[in-house]
Order: sequence, then structure tokens, then C-alpha cells
Amino acid sequence: MSRSDRPAASNRRLVALDGAGTAAAPGRVWLVGAGPGDPELLTLKAARLIAAAQVIVHDGLVSREILEMASPGARLIDVAKRKSRHTLPQDDINQLLVAFALQGLDVVRLKGGDPFIFGRGGEELLACRAAGVACEVVPGVTAALAASAGAGAPLTHRGAAQAVTFVTGHAAHGEPDLDWPALAKANQTVVIYMGLTTAGLIAGRLMDAGRDGATPALVVVNASRADETRHPTTLAKLAEVAEGLSGPALLIVGEAMALALSHSDGSREGGNPSGLSVASDSAWVPAFAGMNGSSQ
Ligand SMILES: C[S@@+](CC[C@H](N)C(=O)[O-])C[C@H]1O[C@@H](n2cnc3c(N)ncnc32)[C@H](O)[C@@H]1O
Repeated sequence: MSRSDRPAASNRRLVALDGAGTAAAPGRVWLVGAGPGDPELLTLKAARLIAAAQVIVHDGLVSREILEMASPGARLIDVAKRKSRHTLPQDDINQLLVAFALQGLDVVRLKGGDPFIFGRGGEELLACRAAGVACEVVPGVTAALAASAGAGAPLTHRGAAQAVTFVTGHAAHGEPDLDWPALAKANQTVVIYMGLTTAGLIAGRLMDAGRDGATPALVVVNASRADETRHPTTLAKLAEVAEGLSGPALLIVGEAMALALSHSDGSREGGNPSGLSVASDSAWVPAFAGMNGSSQ
């Protein structure tokens, strides 16, 4: 998109200030959740703020359709932070938001999913607070909700999933420090964000801690987008299935994933005109085939 400009390392500070100082009346920063990609999953409030923003600072998971909702005069800045494609360090993003607001501009910081679910929204909020800049948060549909809805596999399900936990599969310094014995207990769903490359390690830790290797699992890539793919499997085969996949993906482990759509019913109302790709390992089906509402 031509309006989108990506600041190069050499002009990072210039992007924020453009020769201006601070304004008499500071602007405001909105931390806005853009949802998982499908523009129809955007909240009405998010859509209104995007259309009204003077500056939109967005990350790489925000879809093009959503960015096109910005006003023609808005300035769009991509601070994409995908692994191995870092554009701006988090501290610089914080400073950028504050600097624009101090110029009197209303800034939308547009983030994939929800700003407070593995989105570093908390750090941006604190930076604004420290600078005396008003900052409000607009929640978004986090990827786990879209992945589960698309697959028709609930994250909680009476008798099969009494809790759901969102964890990260990727820590800043190596392996995430998680309570594996707690996560290994049956009848709960574990959703792993940023876990595609650590799927083997995560599955190993869960099984070592006692989670049954036959527990249903699901990998969803590009949830809610036209190119969404779903890969039902088992915990024991999670790493094998994850290998070779790319793109934003969630790993979901739990008995309720037995309800995920398989080959034969792989359609999704209102979406995916290009057709859904479902790679299925049906090893778990016999063990969990009896699961339905009446048996819980
Ligand atoms: C930095 S986290 C941001 C999460 C985001 N704040 C949210 O609430 O969904 C990025 C990770 O979220 C997950 N993710 C985001 N969008 C996704 C999508 N459309 N489909 C599958 N996973 C997604 C992936 O695990 C990805 O690596």
C-alpha cells in the first residue's frame, strides 16, 4: 500500500518528530486490537477509530483490508515485528507513540488480535502513562478465539475442557518457563501462541509431565483469513504436523479438539471462498468419538 511507510533504521527518530516539537494540547494514543485478520471480526469501535486516526502505527499481523479502512490522509507506519524481520525495537515503538501524541496527534496503535494477549500492549500503555499521554485500550478478538470458532472446536466444553490456558511457546531467552505438570492435567485446553518452531519441545514437556500422547491437538495457521488451514492431530504427532508449516499459527491441545472439523465437514460459514485446507490425522477419533453435548 503506497500510504504505508516503513521507517528505516537511519531515520527512526525523524519519523516521530518530522521537525515538530510538542503541541499545547497533546493527542491521545489508542491501543486497538485488530483481531486475527478477518475484517468482519473487527469491533465497531476499532473500525471507527481506524477511520478517524491521523496516525496508525501497526504491526505485521494486521491485514491489508483493515489498513485500507484508514482515511486517505492518515499516516500509516509499519513497525512489523515478525521473527527475524524486526523493524523497530519495542522501546522505539513506545517512543514513537509518545512523540506523535506530544505533537498533538491522535494515534492508533493497531495490533493483531488483542493488544493485551502476547501483544506487548502493557509496555506501550506504561510508556504513555510515564509520559503523561492519555492512552486507552480497545480489545480485539484474539487468535485463539478465531481458531477455535473456525474449527468448531470449543476451548471449554462441559466435561471435556474445564479450563483454558493461553501460553507462549517462544520466550525471549530460550524455553518458556511454564508449569508443565499443571498444563499436563487432563480435561483442559492449552493454547500455544508462537509455538510452531518449538512444537516438539512443548509436546515433549507436556507428555513428560503426564499428558496422554493421544490427546487431540489442532494446529491452525492464518485463523480467520482466506488462506486459513487447520491440521487436526494428536499431542504425540504435534511436532510432525507443525514441521513444514509457516505463517502465524496456534497449537491447541486438549480433549475438546476432538470436535475440530475434519476433511468431510471442512467448510466455514461466511468465509474462505478459496476452500479450506484440512490435513487430518484421525488417530484420536475413535478414542474421543463419543464426545458430544449429551454425554457431558
Ligand atoms: C505476538 S503474538 C500476537 C497475538 C495477538 N495479540 C492475539 O491476541 O492474537 C503472535 C502470535 O499470535 C498467533 N496468531 C496471531 N494471529 C493469528 C492467526 N490469524 N492465526 C493463527 N495464529 C495467529 C501466532 O501464534 C503468532 O505467532
